[in-house]
Amino acid sequence: MRTQVGIIGAGPSGLLLSQLLHLQGIDSVVLERRTPGYVLGRIRAGVLEQGMVDLLNAAQAGERMNKEGLVHDGFEICFGDRRHRIDLKELTGGDTVMVYGQTEVTKDLMDAREALGGLVIYEAENVDIVDLDGETPKLTYRKDGVDHEIVCDYIAGCDGYHGISRRHIPENILKIHERVYPFGWLGVLSETRPASDELIYVNHWRGFALCSMRSTTRSRYYIQCAFDEDLEEWTDDRFWDELRARLPNSVAENMEIGPSIEKSIAPLRSFVAEPMRHGRLFLAGDAAHIVPPTGAKGLNLAASDIHYLSSALIGYYKQQRTDLMDGYSEKCLNRVWKAERFSWWMTTIMHRFPDQNSFDRGIQLAELDYLCGSQSAQASFAENYVGLPY
Ligand code: APR
Ligand code: PHB
Repeated sequence: MRTQVGIIGAGPSGLLLSQLLHLQGIDSVVLERRTPGYVLGRIRAGVLEQGMVDLLNAAQAGERMNKEGLVHDGFEICFGDRRHRIDLKELTGGDTVMVYGQTEVTKDLMDAREALGGLVIYEAENVDIVDLDGETPKLTYRKDGVDHEIVCDYIAGCDGYHGISRRHIPENILKIHERVYPFGWLGVLSETRPASDELIYVNHWRGFALCSMRSTTRSRYYIQCAFDEDLEEWTDDRFWDELRARLPNSVAENMEIGPSIEKSIAPLRSFVAEPMRHGRLFLAGDAAHIVPPTGAKGLNLAASDIHYLSSALIGYYKQQRTDLMDGYSEKCLNRVWKAERFSWWMTTIMHRFPDQNSFDRGIQLAELDYLCGSQSAQASFAENYVGLPY
């Protein structure tokens, strides 16, 4: 088989790229090692920046999001006995975020790909890249016991943190920057009315907590836990008790609880791989960088990468431009590092660190007190939360 752009991974990055290219008449094939059901079973973040919303609309995959997504003008930060609202709209001069789950984004992109007849090959085993140094790199894979090869002009590594693409950048070129945090997040999804109309981020001495949602009838909650916590030991009752112990009384007393429909533990990590391009291979999304979920930036960074990558490939195929491809890595990383900084900072001020001493706690509380008392600190916070420009 021959294609213009071979894409590894049918997460949000790979599907969005293939859809945007298709709409410009550029041919691609997506190879995914899992089944569609497995891909949709992964529950991840749910806050979309305006840039991502615009991109999904441009990809003709925004119809359901525009109907069912919840526009949020602000959220709350709680610490000690204080509750403070960050008014995103007011602080940014009109910007908001859209609460709409990554699972739904992925489903809409899958449907959009299918509607246009896009080729997405699921359950592709042993996906590999060969001849990356030549003019026509190839993707090889095995499906239903048969080996296949796709000859490509370019390859997009959209295969997430555990994918194979990044390994094709030679060790002497690839630089890895990493921080692993000494805790995880225990997340629960439940068919219950959200605790509040807006998200609530809580810094509590027992640990961080977050009240989020997927719709007006479905809630998503997180509590900070040990990174090696045993999920089996977290019954629903224990989870709800611990969550409520960390929330302001006014929220805890009135919230609806119910059986969990999903429960999982995620480690927290900051990770950047540079460069994001090697010859004809481009990395995008989680394949190149990870942020801790505190700032809700993971999916949004994947979207900005895909914006730059689709523009670069469209520039090449439509106008024979190579400058956008040449500038891809630098352009992405400039925005990535700023989101890394924001996510690291928000993680640092909101969590309880196991080795925290009274000085560290004092600094943390001063950060929060400063934030809640200063318009300019809040404006900077809001500017980052709604998303820096592309
Ligand atoms: N071959 C084929 N597919 C692969 C391989 C492989 N060797 N390795 C991984 N994949 C697939 C995974 O099964 C997954 O479906 O690549 C896809 C990568 O998707 P994501 O991990 O969702 O990454 P991305 O599309 O970049 O989306 C970024 O996901 O993790 C969140 O916070 C992150 O929200 C952000 C978003
Ligand atoms: C979520 O709804 O899953 C969510 C929201 C905000 C975050 C992280 C996760 O910062």
